[in-house]
Amino acid sequence: MKTIYVLNGPNLNLLGKRQPQIYGHETLEDVERQCAAACAEGFGVRLLQSNHEGQLIDWIHEARETTCGIVFNPGAFTHTSIAILDALNTYEPPVIEVHISQVHKREAFRHHSYVSLRADGVIAGLGLEGYAAGVRRICQLATRQTQEDLQ
Ligand code: DQA
Repeated sequence: MKTIYVLNGPNLNLLGKRQPQIYGHETLEDVERQCAAACAEGFGVRLLQSNHEGQLIDWIHEARETTCGIVFNPGAFTHTSIAILDALNTYEPPVIEVHISQVHKREAFRHHSYVSLRADGVIAGLGLEGYAAGVRRICQLATRQTQEDLQ
């Protein structure tokens, strides 16, 4: 079984309760269920959330050994964290950056993303569907990579 990490940054533990007019009424458990359903055969997801930058970095380091891709909603660290960008730059498999809201329609400080300097794909404004789309893309890329490795 190939594992995909679905990483979530600060305040996303409150998904469903936090500003539902922006982020909707569904919760992280719904994200986990939808991501598991989006997996191709032979893939599985592990959903993780932390409000702490260092914990997210530790999970990215751990992912180097154990995963075939990361779907990542870094929350506000998207716009501030060079340390998370540096951690992602040590990680080889695909990274898909996801934002539930359409960040480019919001405040100017949300328009810049450090994570986008590393991400292989960026999804914003699709609501929770963005996570499932990220998982599908990683399954596709990982399968393609395995086929290339066999050639
Ligand atoms: C977010 C957008 C960020 O700007 C914000 O800080 C979040 C959530 C999103 O999913 O739309 O916490 O990443």
